[in-house]
Amino acid sequence: MNGTNNNFALQAEEIHKTYKLPKATLRILCGASLTVAPGEHVAITGKSGSGKSTLLNILGGLDKPDSRPGTRVAIKGRKITCASERLRSQVRARDVGFVFQAYNLMPEMNIVENVMLPSLALPGNSRDSRARALHLLELAGLADRLSHLPKELSGGEQQRVAIARAMMNSPALILADEPTGNLDPATGNQILDMLFGISKQEDSEGHGAPALVMVTHSTDIAGRCDRIVRLEDGRLVEDE
Ligand SMILES: Nc1ncnc2c1ncn2[C@@H]1O[C@H](COP(=O)(O)OP(=O)(O)OP(=O)(O)O)[C@@H](O)[C@H]1O
Ligand SMILES: [Mg+2]
Repeated sequence: MNGTNNNFALQAEEIHKTYKLPKATLRILCGASLTVAPGEHVAITGKSGSGKSTLLNILGGLDKPDSRPGTRVAIKGRKITCASERLRSQVRARDVGFVFQAYNLMPEMNIVENVMLPSLALPGNSRDSRARALHLLELAGLADRLSHLPKELSGGEQQRVAIARAMMNSPALILADEPTGNLDPATGNQILDMLFGISKQEDSEGHGAPALVMVTHSTDIAGRCDRIVRLEDGRLVEDE
C-alpha cells in the first residue's frame, strides 16, 4: 500500500521491534501490518509473549518501532512514525483512546476527574468537558457513583470508567489491551456491551464511531469483533 490514506482509522505497515540485550537480540515484531477502517472492530490474539502489548503500544505511539524504511504507522492519515514527540502526543490525545487490563485510573481522583483527564490535553472549556464526562459516565451506568474514588468501585466498574475516559476526546481509534482480562466472563461481556454501545451512541451524535483494536485471549470476546488477526512469529495473520 502506498501513501497515507485519510479513509483509514489506522494504517500500520512493516512494524519491526527488536530488543538488544547484553547477550542476545530479541526479535519480537518482524514486519507486522494492519489496516483498520473507521468504526471497524479488530481483535488481536496470539500466545503470551508473542508481542501483542508491544504492538499495541507502537500502534498508539506510546512506543517506537525499529527505524526502517517501509515502516509506517498512521492514525487517520497522520503519520506518527518519525514524528516528533510533540506531534505524537498531540495525535495520541486527540485521536486515540487507551484501555488497559489494569484500568490505570488515577487513585486520588474521583471518577468524573478521571474521565475528564484526557480533555486537559486539548483546548476547550472545562464546563463542556465536565458535561461530556457526566454524559459518558451515565452511559457507563455510573451516574450514582460520581464522587467515588477508583478503589471504591468493583473491577468491572473501574473498567467502565476507563472506557468512558478513553472516549472522552471522541477518538478515531480505541486501543484496548485485554480490557476484560481481569474480569469474569459475564462481566467481560458486559464491558464489551458498553464499549460497543457507547461507540454506537457516538455515531448517532455525529462524532463517528471509533475503530477498535483489542487484544484478547478470549475466543468469545474476539468473536464479537468484525475481524480476528493472530500475532504469530512477529507478523499478523488473518484468522480463518
Ligand atoms: N523493554 C523490554 N526489553 C526487553 N524485552 C522486552 C521488553 N518489553 C517486552 N519484552 C519482551 O517482548 C516479548 C513480548 O512482550 P509483550 O508484552 O508484547 O507480549 P504479549 O503478547 O503482550 O504477552 P501477554 O499475552 O502475556 O500479555 C516478551 O518476551 C517480553 O519479554
Ligand atoms: Mg500483553
